[in-house]
Amino acid sequence: MRKIRARTLLLVGALGLLVLHLCKDCIDHKNIHLNIDVKEENIQVRQPSTKNSYVYSWPKCQRNTSAANVTGFSSLPGDIKNFLYYRHCRHFPMLLDLPDKCGGVDKSAEVFLLLVIKSSPVNYDRREVLRKTWAKERLHNGVWIRRIFISGTMDTGFEKERLNKLLELEQREYNDILQWDFDERFYNLTMKQILFLEWMERNCPNARFLLNGDDDVFANTNNMVVYLQSLKDNDGGKHLFTGHLIYNVGPIRMSGSKYFIPVQVQESDSYPPYCSGGGFLLSGYTALVIYNMSQSITILPIDDVYMGMCLAKAGLSPSSHMGVKATGLHIPSSTLDVYDPCYYKEVLLVHRFLPAHLYLMWHRINDPNLKCGPSKKKL
Ligand SMILES: *[C@@H]1O[C@H](CO)[C@@H](O)[C@H](O)[C@H]1NC(C)=O
Ligand SMILES: *[C@@H]1O[C@H](CO)[C@@H](O)[C@H](O)[C@H]1NC(C)=O
Ligand SMILES: *[C@@H]1O[C@H](CO)[C@@H](O)[C@H](O)[C@H]1NC(C)=O
Ligand SMILES: *[C@@H]1O[C@H](CO)[C@@H](O)[C@H](O)[C@H]1NC(C)=O
Repeated sequence: MRKIRARTLLLVGALGLLVLHLCKDCIDHKNIHLNIDVKEENIQVRQPSTKNSYVYSWPKCQRNTSAANVTGFSSLPGDIKNFLYYRHCRHFPMLLDLPDKCGGVDKSAEVFLLLVIKSSPVNYDRREVLRKTWAKERLHNGVWIRRIFISGTMDTGFEKERLNKLLELEQREYNDILQWDFDERFYNLTMKQILFLEWMERNCPNARFLLNGDDDVFANTNNMVVYLQSLKDNDGGKHLFTGHLIYNVGPIRMSGSKYFIPVQVQESDSYPPYCSGGGFLLSGYTALVIYNMSQSITILPIDDVYMGMCLAKAGLSPSSHMGVKATGLHIPSSTLDVYDPCYYKEVLLVHRFLPAHLYLMWHRINDPNLKCGPSKKKL
């Protein structure tokens, strides 16, 4: 898994024409004041929904001080220590909600493809470009595509407030963010996924299919709709979980790795099969099964592996889809343009893309004048 991601990084790095460096200092706060058509009645900010009795302000989840008793605790990296202290937490206060995203529980069956995109508050430019491209809410081939970004919080003090304000502004204009008050960290991603599934069970239980993925992927959502419609069971009521399948791997025990999992977190040396978290497709049925299973499975901080654990417990398997290229496309020759739209017209998903490339690519593959030879279609 690590090798694969490293290779993708190299590829992207080498090709970086426009290296839009994403860091918190690079957000231009002055440019965020958009022409916002404020529709007050659409704002869902810290207001308990009257439709259900969901508790918005859970008491702050307390740190489990006994976690520090575990052998070798003091030598663990800070992020792992924090993870162990808060591993038991399952609820966080909700800051931004979308109770009517799917038109209520009954109408949620009209949502054919729900795009659930993991995005951290600082990734404003990624969200903006996704809203204009593959994640645009629309009717495609007669069915509805809807979009949700899922987010935590970042930083502390004024910077945290500023970023929360940013999401609030985006929410007023686009109504597409779920945000909870927990620290947006790599090791908190599983928590984010569970919180989303809990939201889904409450507000959108009958959505047919979901794309769950990162905000830096190129997803050909038009192709996804066509693929999902072509399935024999295309009402979302049967098991489906497909993407870039990873199997026969286990925890990385090197403490320098982003994916480091010490024995104190998981003793077993193997992971169940799972799909790369960059992007996978699943049915509404399978999403709810995963949520059910998660209630009784201790949190593992690697979210895509955790999904695999929930599937395994339910006796379900993830499957591989050829069109999901979590490691990027491997173009056979250096003289070919790796951003030739013909390569991307036929795939479902490619990891990873810079916003500018994504914007351009979406327009190029949707250009009715695009001509592709038969050889390129095969990749
Ligand atoms: C574990 O930690 C708690 C809280 O720090 C402490 O009170 C307790 O004695 C410890 N238990 C063991 C078995 O060391
Ligand atoms: C706190 O951590 C200890 C040691 O890992 C564990 O045995 C206990 O179950 C944890 N408590 C909670 C509430 O998760
Ligand atoms: C996850 O979020 C909680 C709540 O904000 C925080 O206390 C904890 O430190 C975070 N976990 C990690 C691994 O950073
Ligand atoms: C999830 O669990 C609930 C309660 O146990 C049950 O009613 C529901 O049918 C389950 N859903 C799925 C999809 O397994």
